[in-house]
Amino acid sequence: MAETKTLNMPRALVTGGTGGIGEAICSKLARSGYHVIANHHPADTEKVVSWQEQMCANGISVETLSADVSDYNDCQTMAQRINQEGGLYLLVNNAGIVRDATLKKLEPHHWQSVIDTNLGSLYNVSRQFVAAMTEAGTGRIVNISSVNGQRGQFGQTNYSAAKAGVHGFTMALAQETAGKGVTVNTISPGFIDTDMVKTIPDAQREAIIASIPIQRIGQPADIAHAVAFLADAASDYITGINLPVNGGVFMH
Ligand code: CAA
Repeated sequence: MAETKTLNMPRALVTGGTGGIGEAICSKLARSGYHVIANHHPADTEKVVSWQEQMCANGISVETLSADVSDYNDCQTMAQRINQEGGLYLLVNNAGIVRDATLKKLEPHHWQSVIDTNLGSLYNVSRQFVAAMTEAGTGRIVNISSVNGQRGQFGQTNYSAAKAGVHGFTMALAQETAGKGVTVNTISPGFIDTDMVKTIPDAQREAIIASIPIQRIGQPADIAHAVAFLADAASDYITGINLPVNGGVFMH
């Protein structure tokens, strides 16, 4: 995309931007006038070429950048490029993985990879941008957690611990940036129609969907809508919150 075309657009980075929820967030932001950078894992570089072409065919212009969000140095390299080209107004920490197993079977590398990708990434990525955002006096950070971080989930000690940690990170950073024009908020999706939820065994998935008060599985667009709301300039009095978008499946 030509730089002149994007010069006055607010710039947004969406980590895990080419996955189910990430793609919907990128589409929503691009349609709302953002210059969107979709981060993806280096292993997906080849797949992402056709993803980007498909987005383009749908009228969505998105820049793509590879970095493993669980790796600090990789995030630093990605951020150097973004900061050289105009920095960020909005960071959406969305990248996440599941490696489900009951604790008695959970392998150390599956504990660590989920903690590093789903929680460590918030440090690795936000650390690169927060000083510039507060110096600019404007910015938004939106961290994607999960209903399973709020209530726990059988088979997900790793995922639930990381996702619960996400909101602790949000509340602490929100205090550091409050009064400097930068808000930091969490969104906790419920069960959203993505490949991740398809990993739940069929019978369990059907039971979960039947238990959702709004009587449908969530759509990625439901999460994208919440991101756009929190990113809006007029949302500047909302910081440190955990916004559930879960069809009523967990209320507290
Ligand atoms: N509640 C209570 N008991 C359960 C259970 C549950 N939800 N799920 C399984 N069990 C029981 C089984 O009935 C079985 O009992 P018995 O031993 O008495 O027969 C026992 O647990 C099986 O234990 P194992 O350690 O042998 O487990 P397993 O190897 O069969 O796998 C599992 C269990 C990994 C939890 C598997 O059932 C699974 O993947 N479940 C889905 C977990 C889940 O919901 N993940 C969410 C993914 S989506 C997501 O994370 C997105 C988001 O943010 C919402």
